Amino acid sequence: MNLSGKIAIVTGSNTGIGYETALDLYQKGAKVYLACRNEEKALDAIERMKTQGGTGELVYGHLDLASLSSVKAFSDQVLEKETRLDLLVNNAGIMIPPPSKTEDGFEIQFGVNFIGHFALTGHLFNLLEATKGSRVVTLSSIAHRGSAIDFDNFHLEKEYNHWREYGQSKLADIMFALELDKRLRSNGYQIMSLAAHPGFSETDLQKYMDEDMLASLELMTAKEGAQPTLAACLREDAKGGQYWGPDGPNEQKGKPALAKIDAAALDENLNAKLWDWAKETTGVNFPF
Ligand SMILES: NC(=O)c1ccc[n+]([C@@H]2O[C@H](COP(=O)([O-])OP(=O)(O)OC[C@H]3O[C@@H](n4cnc5c(N)ncnc54)[C@H](OP(=O)(O)O)[C@@H]3O)[C@@H](O)[C@H]2O)c1
Repeated sequence: MNLSGKIAIVTGSNTGIGYETALDLYQKGAKVYLACRNEEKALDAIERMKTQGGTGELVYGHLDLASLSSVKAFSDQVLEKETRLDLLVNNAGIMIPPPSKTEDGFEIQFGVNFIGHFALTGHLFNLLEATKGSRVVTLSSIAHRGSAIDFDNFHLEKEYNHWREYGQSKLADIMFALELDKRLRSNGYQIMSLAAHPGFSETDLQKYMDEDMLASLELMTAKEGAQPTLAACLREDAKGGQYWGPDGPNEQKGKPALAKIDAAALDENLNAKLWDWAKETTGVNFPF
């Protein structure tokens, strides 16, 4: 596949799934923005990618998803420079860190994994809409299953439960992807919104995980884990509203296939409620 002339943004692409996603798009010829919070790590990733060969272009953009002003500043830079955006990959994430809040006061996992990406997509919406065939791919997780949205705990009002908060953020991500798809279609927009997850893949994401729990997991490589994201980004038969993940037992590993969406993410009233709340809270300019 030749992606020359196409522009992609991959958040959190200095390492892990994002790195492998950005590398693949670059190798296929796209201009790829590495939207990352740490300049040194991002520039190092760009150097490593270049040694692997590619015909595209790699650009570092500073993006801290834990700050809505940083999300706006990054988006403004892209809007100033670019006239198209083919792929927005909402990939960056954190899992079970110590308790903290974003600059805007959200519980850190909910704020980075969901709120930051919601705002980013909203700021870049017009550019996506101006680009025929554009897609937004948002990373969720097996952890969205069995999770719940607690509107009374977005700001860490309750005692911190690291796994519950991670699950909530990943459920919010897939609800966002599905609600975006629904609103796009019902309002006649051509952008496609899909979700993806990498099963269990060995990355920095596990850095706060208990050693025994980590040892019990069978992990794919980050490159293998990036394949469902790439399928959602690139497959011609992929459609808005789909969720891609590995096809093995419990979707923990395997080749890209359509994945199971938990009933919690299919409650249309709740999805709409979360969307309306996020839109009002972030003040971003989605047209719906
Ligand atoms: N690996 C898995 O098994 C697995 C399973 C299910 C879902 N996922 C999802 O897959 C996605 C990628 O995760 P990964 O496994 O590749 O993890 P990773 O190796 O830890 O990479 C996460 C990326 O997100 C970046 N990031 C964290 N906080 C950020 C912030 N405030 N602003 C901007 N970037 C930020 C990180 O930057 P730094 O390097 O600067 O920290 C890093 O580039 C996540 O959404 C995760 O929830 C992964």
